[in-house]
Amino acid sequence: MQFELIAKTFQGLEEVLAEELTNLGANDVQIGRRMVSFSGDKEMMYRANFCLRTAIRILKPIKHFNAKDADEVYNQIKKINWEEYLDADKTFAVDAVVFSEEFRHSKFVAYKVKDAIVDYFKDLNGKRPSVRINKPDVLLNIHIAQNKCTLSLDSSGESLHRRGYRQEAVEAPLNEVLAAGMILMTGWHGQCDLIDPMCGSGTIPIEAALIARNIAPGVFRKEFAFERWKDFDQEMFDNIYNDDSQEREFDHKIFGYDNNPQAHEIAINNVKAAGLSKEIILKLQPFQQFEKPKEKSVIVMNPPYGERISTRDLLGLYQMIGERLKHAFTDQDAWILSYREECFDQIGLKPSRKIPLFNGSLECEFRKYQIFGGKYKDFKKEKAY
Ligand SMILES: C[S@@+](CC[C@H](N)C(=O)[O-])C[C@H]1O[C@@H](n2cnc3c(N)ncnc32)[C@H](O)[C@@H]1O
Repeated sequence: MQFELIAKTFQGLEEVLAEELTNLGANDVQIGRRMVSFSGDKEMMYRANFCLRTAIRILKPIKHFNAKDADEVYNQIKKINWEEYLDADKTFAVDAVVFSEEFRHSKFVAYKVKDAIVDYFKDLNGKRPSVRINKPDVLLNIHIAQNKCTLSLDSSGESLHRRGYRQEAVEAPLNEVLAAGMILMTGWHGQCDLIDPMCGSGTIPIEAALIARNIAPGVFRKEFAFERWKDFDQEMFDNIYNDDSQEREFDHKIFGYDNNPQAHEIAINNVKAAGLSKEIILKLQPFQQFEKPKEKSVIVMNPPYGERISTRDLLGLYQMIGERLKHAFTDQDAWILSYREECFDQIGLKPSRKIPLFNGSLECEFRKYQIFGGKYKDFKKEKAY
């Protein structure tokens, strides 16, 4: 049986997520705002959770309705046949996301939904399921935009960016979903070496190695919310979990450098935990000492943005990045995620692409630099003839 599903993501990653879904075999793939809707069966829902690199959660809508106030929400929710999803001796929780003048308080909406479910069971036989915020048996999600409401089961539980390989984090680790999305956007999937010269805790190298080897990010997860559902099919999930037929060899290398000894140690532990020490080479090395790689490579990096560094040092850092790229990375591509225009300006190279991307609440840009040996003008001239 096919049903509607929604994969949520970060702003800017919708297209890569849609491509991932299409490759996975999902039907009716449609891009929305910070989400992609699709349809599939139970197996597709399990696979989406297990395989997608750029989704933060997978929702399964169970009811769409219109409501103009909280009482209408209550009435609609109470009409659902809750025994299909929940038993009186089980636990549940409700997340609310509200974009509406009428419903300004998402907490209040969540409260009304809880009330409706509890009252539904009380009316049945007096027994009621209890609310548990931490790892409930059933996690619900109510989404309200103006007066359009969607109630969904959250099949993921903990956000899917929590892969399970991270042992420790540095100060500003990149979100795993964002890191994977950035790498996929570059078109890299293991065709050459990849370098992150400021790799911090190693998120970009680890996500890159998973992509190169086509290892599903779900292999590290301890659990998904759907494993607690009444209709959970253990055998179906085991088959997905144990199927490594899609994994492939990777003939190149991934390099992760950082000048901070603590970050370097953390990266070593994370790479070990992910079982990717063969693919990833880590080194304590300042970017100032970066030398031209022997093999064809691509750089993907997110340098510090400057929350904790003084502006003068920060601008100097970006100047140095531009200088190193120009001298030690000619004829190759570098992709840089950063936040401030004045930082990008210091790089002193002309980007060939600028992709807006959100890193948390920061409106960042992911820029591509094609570094030419000669003058950029000469290159353009050459291309013109
Ligand atoms: C925003 S963090 C990168 C976070 C990383 N992507 C992660 O997921 O953990 C920037 C990193 O650049 C490193 N860094 C700063 N200046 C550097 C330099 N000159 N050479 C190498 N690494 C540097 C910092 O130590 C920090 O770990």
